[in-house]
Amino acid sequence: MMGLDRLESLMKFHPFTRLNKLLENVTPGGGNTPFLLSVGEPQFAPPGFVAEIIAAEAGTWGKYPQANGNDAFRQAVKDWTDRRYGLPAGMLQTDQHILPVAGTREALFHIALSAVPEYTGGERPVVLMPNPFYHVYAGAAAAAGAEPYFLPARAETNFLPVIADIPPAILKRTALAYLCSPANPQGTVADLAYLKAWLDLARRHDFVLASDECYAEIYLDAPPPGTLSAARDFGGSLDRLLVFHSLSKRSSGAGLRSGFVAGDAALIRRQAQLVNFGGVAQPYPILAAATALWRDEDHVVANRSRYQHNFALAQEILGPLFGEVRSAGGFFLWLDVGDGEKAAVELWRRAAIKVLPGGYMARPDAAGDNPGQRYIRVALVYEPADMEPVLKRLAAVLADLLAESGHRQAGE
Ligand SMILES: Cc1ncc(COP(=O)(O)O)c(C=O)c1O
Repeated sequence: MMGLDRLESLMKFHPFTRLNKLLENVTPGGGNTPFLLSVGEPQFAPPGFVAEIIAAEAGTWGKYPQANGNDAFRQAVKDWTDRRYGLPAGMLQTDQHILPVAGTREALFHIALSAVPEYTGGERPVVLMPNPFYHVYAGAAAAAGAEPYFLPARAETNFLPVIADIPPAILKRTALAYLCSPANPQGTVADLAYLKAWLDLARRHDFVLASDECYAEIYLDAPPPGTLSAARDFGGSLDRLLVFHSLSKRSSGAGLRSGFVAGDAALIRRQAQLVNFGGVAQPYPILAAATALWRDEDHVVANRSRYQHNFALAQEILGPLFGEVRSAGGFFLWLDVGDGEKAAVELWRRAAIKVLPGGYMARPDAAGDNPGQRYIRVALVYEPADMEPVLKRLAAVLADLLAESGHRQAGE
């Protein structure tokens, strides 16, 4: 019953299933309206033109969408990508290197199915991923029958996996590696040299590099580099590389289920074929709205400034307890509270605030040490005016918890 076993290992670790179970018998308290800071779902409306375009395109609901979308979408993506990552005009070809996807979650799952062979050098293939990580990477590896290999991404290494620590025997079996920058959950932004080192590794060891860049447009100061720029600096070949981008975070459009992958032509073809068998192609009205979203930067700038505002508030309110809490990219706080599970229960019980225990996004290492266990992940996804009182409530509970557990505070 291999299939069932794989499914079990997928389900057992699903972070939100675990969170629901953790809190099922805990009554949210404090007389407060519940606030869900556990899910990375932006609470802002996408621009008004989205609904208008979808309505105007209603005549195409009757048509089966095509896996590779249409020219207008792929051209908008190419223009955005070329500009954002400084690519020469001839590098990304709209008919070969770009594919619309119905959510990067789905595409990140599909890449494991298309990139992992039955055997690598006669052995079980390995899928590399950071630890902690976005849960879909491990689910996809399990569904593809690969062995997940978790690369520690702890504070000591700026929350990035250390390439030199990957054992040669593991690299030999590696079929796919997931990279995430800005990182969910820690918000770390990898520099271009680091992205280049991964691309170089993927090519030398002949594995696929899946670079998840869905938080690329949400940052504090400088735009995070992308792996496509690394490919440019290596001469422009897209061999072994796929990058993943989404409108869910950039445009607050999680319900649109819209993003794109770009990169290696052979991998793009395989991803498209998988969609033809068991995926969802982008409906034309959604594709038209997505095209307009990739062509508009005003709403992205406005979104980014909301998150920057939220981080400034978080720093003001939580800084006295934790020191620096801002992340270079993305919209999460990653707070070392000593015991993430306990903090999640107490925040729900005392203040009706739901957060995700960091340990639910990570796996224990060989010594049984879970690199996320001490942390909670807090999504700053509401308007600043709504975030401010909630952050104050959060800080009050955490201050009590830290005092109760004798945890040292910043500056002590
Ligand atoms: C790291 C990361 N990658 C991918 C996704 C998937 O986003 P979507 O499927 O909405 O594009 C998420 C969503 O939370 C995420 O955090």
